[in-house]
Amino acid sequence: MTDAAMTKPTTTEELPTAQPEAKKNEKYYLRFTLPQRYLHAVLFTSFLGLAATGLPMRFSENVPARFFARAVGGFGAILFMHKFCAIVLTLAFLYHVKDIVTRAVMNKEKGLFWGPTSMVANWKDVKDLVGHLRWFVGLGPKPQFDRYAYWEKFDYWAVFWGMIVIGFSGYAMWFAPFFARFLPGWALNAVLVIHGEEALLAILFIFSIHFVNTHLRPDSFPMDMVIFTGKETEEEFRRKRSLEFARLARQGKLEARVSDPPVYWWVNFARVVGFTAILIGLVLLVLTLIAYFGTV
Ligand code: HEM
Repeated sequence: MTDAAMTKPTTTEELPTAQPEAKKNEKYYLRFTLPQRYLHAVLFTSFLGLAATGLPMRFSENVPARFFARAVGGFGAILFMHKFCAIVLTLAFLYHVKDIVTRAVMNKEKGLFWGPTSMVANWKDVKDLVGHLRWFVGLGPKPQFDRYAYWEKFDYWAVFWGMIVIGFSGYAMWFAPFFARFLPGWALNAVLVIHGEEALLAILFIFSIHFVNTHLRPDSFPMDMVIFTGKETEEEFRRKRSLEFARLARQGKLEARVSDPPVYWWVNFARVVGFTAILIGLVLLVLTLIAYFGTV
């Protein structure tokens, strides 16, 4: 060990703040802004909370569900936590909708609903999907992607519409006497089925397909840190979104996206949070499958 290595840092400036050696000389680019990362954090924590509390209500006869209920003070307490997480998720959703409306109506932002930076699917996404399937079986080249790949758009819309269906049915159950004023009785029974089935679909989709698409695929394994740090290296940017990189370079907008390397402690913190979230999701997925096939 060198003398320098043995000397303890005395000021915070001497502590490592950016990524150590391996990625020190890499150039970083900003992909997600701070509000976008906060929104995703609120989204995934409230969703995990809703899944962890909704599933025991759905499979209340199940042993792990009863164990959980006993541990937290009964099913009444579980429902209370479910409603708390539902309010948090609803606020996040409303914030996102307000953001889109502001950008579209007030700021008249171009490319929000169409073009290479939009979340709306277009003809290229269809071609990319077909091209990707062909590439999987060795029949063609790997498709190149712009800002959002077709599966990222699919994940986004699955959550967006899922949120409307699950949210509406959830509030209809929560405030049943109010909704009974203008909904027929059978509809109030239907919302319980719709809520439960749509929730199951969302849980299975997020904890399997979304996890694999974003984190567990070979390109990003074991976890894509970009949603936590907001930044990616030039190598990642070129490899994963070569069309966006080339487009920004052409338009002279690339330099505006250059960013400092992510702060070291934040990367580690995000790793712990991210892996914990993935682990909880996978445990819930396994418990759901066991409960579902055990009760069919
Ligand atoms: C705004 C969003 C939401 C609201 C207002 C809401 C509200 C509710 C309410 C009031 C119940 C009824 C509990 C009872 O009295 O039996 C319930 C059940 C349930 N919720 Fe939610 N919820 C929301 C989102 C979610 C999400 C995102 C999930 C999945 C991740 C979920 C999963 C479940 C499940 C599995 C049940 C049990 C359904 C059954 O018994 O078949 N909920 N929810």
